[in-house]
Amino acid sequence: MTQPLLEVKSLTKHFTSKPGLFSKEKVVRAVDGVNLTVYPGETVSIVGESGCGKSTTGRCILRLIEPTDGEIWFDGKNIRDFNETELRKARRNMQLVFQDPFASLNPRKSVGQILEDPLIVHGIGTAAERRKQVEEIIEIVGLTKQHLNRFPHEFSGGQRQRIGIA
Ligand SMILES: Nc1ncnc2c1ncn2[C@@H]1O[C@H](COP(=O)(O)OP(=O)(O)OP(=O)(O)O)[C@@H](O)[C@H]1O
Ligand SMILES: [Mg+2]
Repeated sequence: MTQPLLEVKSLTKHFTSKPGLFSKEKVVRAVDGVNLTVYPGETVSIVGESGCGKSTTGRCILRLIEPTDGEIWFDGKNIRDFNETELRKARRNMQLVFQDPFASLNPRKSVGQILEDPLIVHGIGTAAERRKQVEEIIEIVGLTKQHLNRFPHEFSGGQRQRIGIA
């Protein structure tokens, strides 16, 4: 049997806040015992009402926030054991597409620059190779090379979501 790409076991995330010095601590049980398994090539959707913990689950999986409890296995490895270098490497293959794409796109950068930035951060390719990869990816998401010189405000909501996916 193939190994799962992602395995989430009893994932729990509680947010605690203390509004005032003498007030009682408040606990939001954002995620409470989530289990899921994703095999290579599979698509899994998490559906639920607003505020039920979908984004929090995703953030924990990427370790953008630390889970309160539970385990996350990515490609056979427990991500809790990853150091910064390993986490950075794993994040090349784990991406978050933001709900509000406009808020996640830098308004001062062209789409071409925005798409090249992660390649620079991860030290991938020469300038020419990065350019080629950016031109490929923009077409995969259904936009064209001409769009690379434009800025985020010059796109429709749907097109911005495509840029987020790219
Ligand atoms: N950083 C935080 N501090 C405190 N509470 C938080 C924090 N982030 C999320 N929450 C709370 O945790 C719960 C789950 O939030 P989450 O963003 O995961 O919901 P969601 O399922 O993605 O909702 P939506 O469909 O509206 O995007 C909510 O009650 C939210 O108010
Ligand atoms: Mg959400």
